[in-house]
Amino acid sequence: MKKAWWKEAVVYQIYPRSFMDSNGDGIGDLNGITEKLDYLKELGIDVIWLSPVYQSPNDDNGYDISDYQAIMTEFGTMEDYDRMLARAHELGIKIMMDLVVNHTSDEHAWFVESRKSVDNPYRDFYIWRKGKEDGKEPNNWGSCFSGSAWKYDEQTDMYFLHLFSKKQPDLNWDNPKVRDHVFDMMNWWCEKGIDGFRMDVISLISKPEGLPDGIPGENGYADSGCANGPHVHEYLQEMNRKVLSKYDLITVGEAAGVTLEEAKKYANADGSELNMVFQFEHVSGSEHEKTHYGKWDGHKMPLPEWKANLSKWQTGLSHEAWNSLYLSNHDQPRSVSRYGNDSEEYRERSAKLLATCLHMMQGTPYVYQGEELGMCNAYFDNLEDYRDIESINAYHELTEQCGVSHEEMMGYLKRISRDNARTPMQWDDSKNAGFTTGTPWLKVNSNYPEVNAKAQVNDPDSVFSYYKKLIRLRHENEIIVYGDYELLEAESEETFIYKRTYENEHLMVLCNFTDHEVSVTDAVMGQIPDGAEKLIANYADDMGQTLRPYEAKVYRY
Ligand code: NOJ
Repeated sequence: MKKAWWKEAVVYQIYPRSFMDSNGDGIGDLNGITEKLDYLKELGIDVIWLSPVYQSPNDDNGYDISDYQAIMTEFGTMEDYDRMLARAHELGIKIMMDLVVNHTSDEHAWFVESRKSVDNPYRDFYIWRKGKEDGKEPNNWGSCFSGSAWKYDEQTDMYFLHLFSKKQPDLNWDNPKVRDHVFDMMNWWCEKGIDGFRMDVISLISKPEGLPDGIPGENGYADSGCANGPHVHEYLQEMNRKVLSKYDLITVGEAAGVTLEEAKKYANADGSELNMVFQFEHVSGSEHEKTHYGKWDGHKMPLPEWKANLSKWQTGLSHEAWNSLYLSNHDQPRSVSRYGNDSEEYRERSAKLLATCLHMMQGTPYVYQGEELGMCNAYFDNLEDYRDIESINAYHELTEQCGVSHEEMMGYLKRISRDNARTPMQWDDSKNAGFTTGTPWLKVNSNYPEVNAKAQVNDPDSVFSYYKKLIRLRHENEIIVYGDYELLEAESEETFIYKRTYENEHLMVLCNFTDHEVSVTDAVMGQIPDGAEKLIANYADDMGQTLRPYEAKVYRY
């Protein structure tokens, strides 16, 4: 397998709005990030994925960009950005920018022009269509943020497409001028010295020919069917030729709806497109479960199916492409609440278990801010505490149009809302967890007096120290990066056990996903020779064949 620095790296995602506020306005900012770079150096990560920091009216917290070459006023200035970049580089940390180019903000100059008239030079930068004969939307596609994916614009008596919010019109990638403008902007950032791009919903940029109706769901709207569209690989190869191949970058494409076969194209080892993709299968509901309301009324995937899924990606991409490894990000609930156990008794243990299980796999691991502390879901009781446009729109659609009760919907939000992951970073036990001296834009999780960075950084048994060790082990052991993967005991509903093999070495990773004791089979134990080295474990002592609640341990031999 070809070696590469981005295969050996560990990425840390910063959601700037919630990371660190340096000026007391309740909103995280760039100077706040710069202040905390030493903390990240201590953790040992190699790359920061910075969620969008560009100028934006914040309909979707920066994923609606009105100027790609300016910094969001609330986050600081371009000078602050340059200072942050320089300091990160001084510490040996690379910066990966979020590239949001499936859509812009409706306040972007291109869209402001585009909507003026049908013959404006920017008209074809976006996707405009006449309404149907009865004046209705051009097709039945639904927006990912509820309602139709089309918005009527009186000025020219036409609709524009927005797969996300009404303030996020989709760019028309079939227009070569759009591609050139995007590539120029990317080159500008690369010349500035950034180190990579995380590409927002990049699998959606090429729309299907004729924009055909889909099969409507419970709310009357259909999935757009834009995932992995007809020209997506052609456009990414062009991007690769005109931008990516000119620099030494790390690139990851967010690829909703990506299959294994498609991922082998996006992340092909030949380097013609991107380094890796974020696939969504393991953070989705069960394949066998039918939900009425998409992600909202879904359940946790049963362990055997989850293992089979992650393992399919491990073996399926091996030697042909490359995996990204993640359980959390700003769009998912907190992993310890979702896949572990966030009770007082098991929070730390299960946070370490999840980290072990993920970080011992093949691929590039991503740590989402606060995951290294075992931060939990917010579980807000009141709708007024939510800020996320997806959650608020879904609340209204489901309760007002689909007959879901308030109580039921609040339960869905507690379980899966994106705001669970967006509460401010918990730095210490002072007011507002040390995140801000002002009023935080989103409430701080009430468990901050116990769960915070200050309490963990110098504690050798903390979740933070455990992550630090996992990251160091990856840097020191090629087997963790490059070793082949094999799932054992696939049918077990209690354990996740797998083996890694590289040259003549093996790792055995044993994880108990339950809150009770489990006995490992003789078949597995028999493979671990006496004298095998215990690389890492989340209990201090060892009970051999017996795994205690949420126990995780890794042997090398
Ligand atoms: C995916 C991003 O991760 C999410 O936060 C955002 O809302 C959508 N793309 C739209 O940009």
